[in-house]
Amino acid sequence: MSQLKVVSEQHTTDESFLNDVLDGLSQQQKSLPCKYFYDDRGAALFEQITALSEYYVTRTELAILEQYSHDIAKMLPENLSIIEPGCGSGKKVAYLLAHLANVKTFVPFEISKEMLNYSLAHLSPLFPELVISPLLGDFTHSQMVKQLAKDTALDNQTNLVYFPGSTLGNFAPIKAIEIMKNFHRLCGLNGYVLIGIDLVKERQVLLDAYDDKAEVTAQFNKNLLQRINNELNGTFNLSGFNHQSRFNEQHSRIEMHLVSQCEQSVVINNHLFEFAQGESIHTENSHKYTVDSFAQLAEQANLTLAHTWQDCNNYFALCLLRPQN
Ligand code: AVJ
Repeated sequence: MSQLKVVSEQHTTDESFLNDVLDGLSQQQKSLPCKYFYDDRGAALFEQITALSEYYVTRTELAILEQYSHDIAKMLPENLSIIEPGCGSGKKVAYLLAHLANVKTFVPFEISKEMLNYSLAHLSPLFPELVISPLLGDFTHSQMVKQLAKDTALDNQTNLVYFPGSTLGNFAPIKAIEIMKNFHRLCGLNGYVLIGIDLVKERQVLLDAYDDKAEVTAQFNKNLLQRINNELNGTFNLSGFNHQSRFNEQHSRIEMHLVSQCEQSVVINNHLFEFAQGESIHTENSHKYTVDSFAQLAEQANLTLAHTWQDCNNYFALCLLRPQN
């Protein structure tokens, strides 16, 4: 098993968290980056979300994998290496690995050393034959990915870049294209990319998926304010904000907001922020695609849609892409 590879001097998390929060709350439309949802409590709340009846996303993707794993396997060559950017605990890939006989190597690609070690400990007993070679780094950082692809000679093997969970939907189109270009670099010219995307559907189904009756998503959203209070000395009064999910037609995305219920001010690390009644903090985008709109996006990263697998409601799609030469 290869050593963990440190590819960049990371900022301490606190410093970039603080900077990102101050920056986001200084904008005309206040916003906070959704990547900060996932502290321990946030990750646990997201786990709960995946089990909600309204949140079809996770269960639908897993059902597609379950139903079509043989078809997927048939389209992939022997001795495959799977690279998973942002693999987290490695839970999703375990599903895929269980269904594909032709995988030789798994490359978890994570920004968090802790998560890498966790995925290693979790996966190696499940798949004793599998070679696991972890890669430490940030898949959204193009310069870093270029360097990594070079250093690790990923070209000597046939790679499948696996990016499930509709995570791509969190990124605006320009960034999503950049990220898919990174995937192109990682998989090489003979490789494959498999991405899970959430599809456009009836508006109410989308709104409910992000605003469940049990209010777990509301807690998940507000936990970001709690995290700012805990880690950055914030003074957010959580009951002064309401969770809201909106569908933005123009950008074809669900947006999550936290709406201030009154005129109030908040102090974070000696910085004062004022909120008008009804003013919102925009906390997440979750883009919804059609198969066509996604194919067009991927084309801009020089990836061609080779195949899609969908559930019977056409709620979600697993998309297999091939690099253009
Ligand atoms: C983890 C980005 C796929 O956008 O559906 C779930 C996050 N936010 N409920 C999504 C999320 C609110 C989720 N992703």
